[in-house]
Amino acid sequence: MFRSNRRTRRAMFTLLAVLALFLSACSQKMRDQPKLNPDEATTLLPGGTASQPIVADTVPRGYVNDDVEFTTGKDASGQLVTEFPFPITKQDILRGEERFNIYCAPCHGHVGNGAGVVALRGFPGPPSYHQDRLRNAPVGHFFDVITNGFGRMPSYANQIPPEDRWRIVAYIRALQLSQHADVKSLPAADQQQLQKVQSGG
Ligand code: HEC
Repeated sequence: MFRSNRRTRRAMFTLLAVLALFLSACSQKMRDQPKLNPDEATTLLPGGTASQPIVADTVPRGYVNDDVEFTTGKDASGQLVTEFPFPITKQDILRGEERFNIYCAPCHGHVGNGAGVVALRGFPGPPSYHQDRLRNAPVGHFFDVITNGFGRMPSYANQIPPEDRWRIVAYIRALQLSQHADVKSLPAADQQQLQKVQSGG
């Protein structure tokens, strides 16, 4: 019993040793293959270095700007657009609400009055969206602010893709309406309800 155990163990050991040899040889080969490290000096390539400059006008994947209004909020002549570049559905507004609450509410507050927790804790207070200047601002302005930042507010272009930026703008429009709705624009039933509340009934 003891002897056979020892034999098995020896066989296992040999097997492992052989495997280790093979495996290390394999990794060794990959490590030692001929290659150039970044910025390594070489006579093979122009400029004498392994790293080559990016070809002019190279556009990284996902950054193709083939629809100027959609990706900048401005038309070809540089004017801020006044209409959304795609039809806004309820789903878009709901997605905009979700994104707004993640990216903007911390500073701008959940209703966009500028009283987010970050502002309450000392960050320069953002303006309220509920003022005539911003109510009358074209949708392209909001898109442009998210894309390029505005004064002390940083750009959110890297965190928020253009589709979602437009959805956030749509939600800001909904927020503006929520704080500045005309009674006459409400459905008749809601108008009656409101009158009841106001007359104390
Ligand atoms: C870190 C805090 C912070 C966050 C987050 C933030 N903002 Fe702002 N925002 C500001 C501040 C501060 C200002 C005022 C900047 C100034 O006037 O220097 C501002 C200004 C604005 C304005 C007004 C521009 C004008 O014409 O006066 C808009 C619109 C706006 N932000 C939209 C957004 C949207 C949309 C988001 C989310 C994608 C967002 N902000 C996220 C801090 C923030």
